[in-house]
Parts: sequence; C-alpha cells; structure tokens
Amino acid sequence: MKLEIAFVGAGKMVSAIVNGLLTKNIFQPKEMACVSAPDGTSEKLAEATGIGSAETLEDLLLEGSKRLLLGCKPQQFNTLDTGLSEWTSSCTVLSIMAGITLETLAQTFPKARHLIRSMPNTPGQIGAGVTAYAFAGNADEDAKTDVERILGSLGKVFAVDEPQIDLVTAMSGSGPGYVFEFACALEEAGEKIGLEKDFARTLAIETILGSGRLMARSEEHPETLRNYVSSPKGTTLAALEQFAKGNFRKLVADAVVAARDRSLELSRPDA
Ligand SMILES: NC(=O)c1ccc[n+]([C@@H]2O[C@H](COP(=O)([O-])OP(=O)(O)OC[C@H]3O[C@@H](n4cnc5c(N)ncnc54)[C@H](OP(=O)(O)O)[C@@H]3O)[C@@H](O)[C@H]2O)c1
Repeated sequence: MKLEIAFVGAGKMVSAIVNGLLTKNIFQPKEMACVSAPDGTSEKLAEATGIGSAETLEDLLLEGSKRLLLGCKPQQFNTLDTGLSEWTSSCTVLSIMAGITLETLAQTFPKARHLIRSMPNTPGQIGAGVTAYAFAGNADEDAKTDVERILGSLGKVFAVDEPQIDLVTAMSGSGPGYVFEFACALEEAGEKIGLEKDFARTLAIETILGSGRLMARSEEHPETLRNYVSSPKGTTLAALEQFAKGNFRKLVADAVVAARDRSLELSRPDA
C-alpha cells in the first residue's frame, strides 16, 4: 500500500511534524515512514510513534508514497541517492530545508507532481510554530489545502512567494533564537541585581510567555501595549530609555538583515 507521507530525516523537525500529524489525526502511524542517516534517529522515531522506518531511501520509497517530506539538514541533501528522481514521479515533494531553492529541488525531482519549499520554526515542536511555504509554479486549491494540512501540524501556516522565504527565515525561522537570547540576557540581568539564578530564569520565561500571549490576544499594537506599561517617570520608562540609548531597534534590524543575507548566501548553489 502506498504511504501517505515518507520522511527523509527523523530529527527534531520531522519528529514534530509526525507528532503533530498523529495528534491531529491527519494520518495513522501505518501511513507514514521515515529514513535517516545511520545514527538511529529513524528507529527512535518509529519506536516512539509507531510509524515505519527504512534502512535506505530506496526501501522507503519501494512501495511508493503520495508525499515526500525532506527534513534532513541542507548539507545532507547533496548526499541523497540520485534514484530519487524516478521514485518521486507524480509525488508531492515538500522541503523544510533552509537554503535549498525551488530551482535546486526541481533539478533533483524533475518528475514530482508538486514542489514546495517551506520554512517552519522550532516552536512547531509544541504546535505553536509558524511556517511559510511557496509552491514551484501554480498550484490548485486542493494541493494548497493538502500542504497547509500537513504544515498546519506545526502551528500557523502562510503562503508566500519564494523570495519571501529568505525574509521569513530571518524573522520567524531564526526568531526563536532571538527570543531565547533575550531570555538569557534578562536572566543574567536579574542575577546581576541580586535575584537567585533559577528564580530570575522563571521570571524571564514567564514574562516573555505572558507578554507574547497578551500581544496575540490584544487588538492593540505592541507599541501601545508598551506605552501602557511605561508611565511617565516610571520604572519601565527608565529601562526603555536605556534600550533607546543602546539603539536597541537598530541592533535588532541589523541582526535580521544579517540573517536574511546569510539565508540568501546559503541559497546560492556554490554556498
Ligand atoms: N531546527 C530549526 O530551527 C529549523 C527551522 C526551520 C527549518 N529547519 C530545517 O529542518 C531540517 C531539519 O532540522 P532539524 O533541526 O530537525 O535537524 P536534525 O534534528 O539534525 O535532524 C536531521 C535528520 O536528518 C537525518 N539525515 C542525515 N543525513 C541523511 C541522509 N543522507 N538521508 C536521510 N536522512 C538523513 C538525520 O539522521 P541521523 O540523526 O541518523 O544522522 C536526522 O534524522 C533542516 O534542513 C533545517 O534547515 C530547521
């Protein structure tokens, strides 16, 4: 029986997708299978979820699969079997790999029915992710719905044009790293002013979590929410003045530009 979806890679992101698909009852374990490098991640994922695992890509695709999701690291992509082209004839090929363009995918999978490049992020591991995707060429509504159903297992999904994928990478793809770094800075600052380390970490995490939820629920712009907590001559304003003095917004803008540029660089064939 043809699989509904086969996975190349069985690491963090693929595990998140498999768990999401199972939790949302989109596919049954027997409708999915994966392959990894010989480090044993595919066996681990298969054991934990009940999906199938194969020793080789050829074994994985022997029976056929309606969809193939590429979830190995971009640098591992070039080591994949060239037989992929035949095995993926009339299959939907969906990549979550950073920096692998639709053009490169089209060269590897010339016979695929649909090609999709996407950029998820790590909060997808708890279903709170945000993913942007782009199709190669035109796709009908059914194909779009199908892709959104699969990527929706990680959280929110947005259709974009391919050039925007590098911009999305710099915002939401790398964004969790920025937020984690801010959490570390806040924890360290808390310790510096005399709080116990674990307590400072809890305060930092809960503050980021609560503020994120408030922003998501509120109709107000984040700037308005910021103004609500910045009374004249108050404590927040005193802190925000230091942010402005250190040119915080320029620092964030420079960081996002650096991530965008690196994403563009990785997308070049000679990178
Ligand atoms: N993590 C993120 O923040 C994030 C965000 C957006 C997109 N992505 C993309 O998601 C992809 C996966 O990232 P990850 O964090 O999940 O990586 P990961 O945990 O390191 O998983 C990579 C997986 O690929 C497998 N693999 C390696 N070589 C292979 C080969 N030749 N054939 C088949 N499988 C192979 C690995 O197997 P072994 O473990 O057995 O070696 C492992 O299961 C990457 O392309 C990344 O660009 C990641």
